[in-house]
Amino acid sequence: MLRRRSTDLTGDGGGDGTPLLAVERLEVDFPTADGVVHAVRGVDLELRSGEVLGIVGESGSGKSVTAMATMGLLPRSARIRGSVRYRGHELLRRSEKQLMGYRGKSIAMIFQDPMTSLNPVYSVGWQIAEAIRAHQDVSKEEATRRAVELLRKVGIPNPEERVASYPHEFSGGMRQRVVIAIAIANDPDVILADEPTTALDVTVQAQVLEALGAALHTTHAALLLITHDLGVIAGLADRVVVMYAGRPVEVGTVDDIFYAPAMPYTLGLLGSLPRVDTDGSERLRPIPGAPPSMLGDLRGCPFAPRCPIAEDRCRAVEPELAAVAGEHAGHLAACHLAERVRASGTPLFAATSADTDGDGDGDGGDRRP
Ligand SMILES: Nc1ncnc2c1ncn2[C@@H]1O[C@H](COP(=O)(O)OP(=O)(O)O)[C@@H](O)[C@H]1O
Ligand SMILES: [Mg+2]
Repeated sequence: MLRRRSTDLTGDGGGDGTPLLAVERLEVDFPTADGVVHAVRGVDLELRSGEVLGIVGESGSGKSVTAMATMGLLPRSARIRGSVRYRGHELLRRSEKQLMGYRGKSIAMIFQDPMTSLNPVYSVGWQIAEAIRAHQDVSKEEATRRAVELLRKVGIPNPEERVASYPHEFSGGMRQRVVIAIAIANDPDVILADEPTTALDVTVQAQVLEALGAALHTTHAALLLITHDLGVIAGLADRVVVMYAGRPVEVGTVDDIFYAPAMPYTLGLLGSLPRVDTDGSERLRPIPGAPPSMLGDLRGCPFAPRCPIAEDRCRAVEPELAAVAGEHAGHLAACHLAERVRASGTPLFAATSADTDGDGDGDGGDRRP
């Protein structure tokens, strides 16, 4: 698997210290018939030039709403607070017309289902060429020639012929490669990919991630990679934001998250990851329980009801996201017990009844991404 670790952890957008994309104190509420859904409750993110930032969390944790808010794609009913800046320019509360200039050109998007991004009645080559011509003044012939090159870049065999194919003539994995080709067609600074491999078979997932990695390599774009699957993040991301109940609950490098997790929820996600260093006989351990409803106000740590080590203060006061003691400054966790979790390195989630050998070892400390 391709691994792009940016060595420059302080890399910035324009060389003046401004990050490419900066999300600050983002909050999104949806008024509904049942009450107000607090979908996003204070998200801070910074995406730097050439960086891959992974956002991971169970379904409903607010990942897509964060991404949609960033792109100005939320329904009108959404109440949005905070700030989203691209190269220092505020994107929130901008007109549709102003945002159109950024979408596709500066910031490209890849969604879960390629068929929602592709039009079934046009050839894939036509669609890539149109994407190019929407932002660049080139002839149809030149755009089609570039479309062939882009298809080659994302690993479509025989691109000279396949450029005339229609989406239904491609497999799911090949369609997602076409979407990646469209995303990189205008040399974006930022690619925002929301569950780009979730709809694909496991074997195809790795190939599409490889194509995404190759696309990043040629464009030098930064990537915001959203997924519910830590396994997807492992090979590609530089830094990871773990989200729960609409907030980041742990932030760190890939190594922090995989080798030194400090938030019980992160340990839970790691436990539900297939291990590559065992023979596969060890069962996965899903986190028991379900995420909280985002209707109404939460009290205490939203993970406390599912947390095996929760104490009274966890149920009373929601912990702030703060630096983990003894770790480097970029490793943050929202947990009253972060230091204890970080130091213990032991699995918190006992093996379920499906764990036939019942040893419950799970020595999470040496898990390999
Ligand atoms: N348009 C909407 N109206 C009301 N609630 C919404 C809307 N969109 C998303 N939500 C709610 O916001 C929360 C976060 O959703 P989402 O960001 O899609 O989660 P995920 O992390 O799975 O991408 C969920 O509780 C979801 O039901
Ligand atoms: Mg989502």
